[in-house]
Amino acid sequence: MAQRAARELDVVVWGATGFTGQLAAAYLATVARTAGVRWAIGGRNEGKLRKIVADLEAGKDTESLPEVIVCSIDDTKGLHAMAARTRVIASLAGPFSQMGTPILEACIAERCDYCDITGEVPWVKIQSDRLGPAAEANGVILSSCCGFDSLPSDLGTLYAVTKLREKFGPNVRIGKVTAYFDMMGSLSGGTLASGIAMENDPELHKMNQNPFLLGGAPEGGPRPDDADYKNYEQDPELGTWIAPFGMAMINTRIVRKSGTALQYGPDFQYREVAVAPSEKAAAKMAKPLPPASKRQAMVEAGRLPKQGDGPSKELRAKSWFRTRIKAEDATDPSRYVWVQVSGGDPGYTETAKMLSEAAICLAQQREVLPRTAGFLTPASSMGTALIERLQAAGIRFEAIPSPASSSSSKL
Ligand SMILES: NC(=O)c1ccc[n+]([C@@H]2O[C@H](COP(=O)([O-])OP(=O)(O)OC[C@H]3O[C@@H](n4cnc5c(N)ncnc54)[C@H](OP(=O)(O)O)[C@@H]3O)[C@@H](O)[C@H]2O)c1
Repeated sequence: MAQRAARELDVVVWGATGFTGQLAAAYLATVARTAGVRWAIGGRNEGKLRKIVADLEAGKDTESLPEVIVCSIDDTKGLHAMAARTRVIASLAGPFSQMGTPILEACIAERCDYCDITGEVPWVKIQSDRLGPAAEANGVILSSCCGFDSLPSDLGTLYAVTKLREKFGPNVRIGKVTAYFDMMGSLSGGTLASGIAMENDPELHKMNQNPFLLGGAPEGGPRPDDADYKNYEQDPELGTWIAPFGMAMINTRIVRKSGTALQYGPDFQYREVAVAPSEKAAAKMAKPLPPASKRQAMVEAGRLPKQGDGPSKELRAKSWFRTRIKAEDATDPSRYVWVQVSGGDPGYTETAKMLSEAAICLAQQREVLPRTAGFLTPASSMGTALIERLQAAGIRFEAIPSPASSSSSKL
């Protein structure tokens, strides 16, 4: 087996033919040569993969073209051969609960690091329990949820905790951390299909309701604010309406796991909400989603996007996100910091960038990473190194004064 340093490739973008996978390929094509990244795109459909290369070749910002690796998810030998040739596989092929696992197994066996953009936390839980020890034994990093779910939350919390410690000293007791999300964006068919697949599986659906599914439960048992927020109200901090945030059931689980791994301490408590422009909007945002069967019927009727489709270039160009995070001293809540993470189209353009930068981080910066093996969260595997990469790539992490109330969420 080739040592990491001797591998022919640094990054394989797996699932490159999907809606988000094509954006990741387009992003890497613009940065790979400057970053010194040898890369390939992988998937099951050779025709689609070759068309992606042809389109990249015609693109004016393209720096380098990828190699093509054709392999289906049930071709174990092919997946192992792919993993043995590269330092990192960045996976965008979902629903992950249906097709994610064989890639993880190939990565562990071939000592290849891995990152993905899943938001399917129950799948992450099952696979981290099952494969985490083998990943650790083989010195392999597996890091899930490296897209909009959950980098702004996970790295934003790490950034806020770091700022709180810088301001009040390293022994400050980290208390409540609250993330307020504002955004404009839209969903792809692949994202919808992954949510529907999870809801249709009774075991995964039940697991998904556990706020501490990935760990991080306080010793004294759950506190009222640990429950998933399902209400809407006026928030005294922002002086604006808040409502449930659609991705909180993913992000809170990841951040709580990071809280344990990175020792945020026994008083650490993480909550995530959406900012709403009005009471009426907040009330609407607090309504549960239509059931999976209805969402599936809407996909079939063409009223929601099907797999492979997603928001247009024009819509993505207008989309944005802003996550404002308050971190408090547990012993004195009048001592706090605010930070902000912000960028463009969260679900797709920025997700493709986030995953690509995570993959480059794993491929090139292993020696500075906080942990080097196991099934890890983004903050506990790549931490500050990835924050710095994302900042350089145009995603802003900054300390801010206490925010005034002017925001609106549309999803
Ligand atoms: N974390 C985040 O913020 C975030 C953001 C965006 C998306 N996501 C997640 O990312 C995933 C992809 O979303 P998307 O909208 O890009 O989906 P998509 O357009 O439907 O793409 C799915 C990809 O999976 C591949 N695939 C499907 N079945 C396969 C099989 N049997 N063998 C090999 N490859 C197979 C598809 O290949 P073919 O082209 O050959 O069908 C395609 O490349 C979803 O799970 C979604 O929830 C997460």
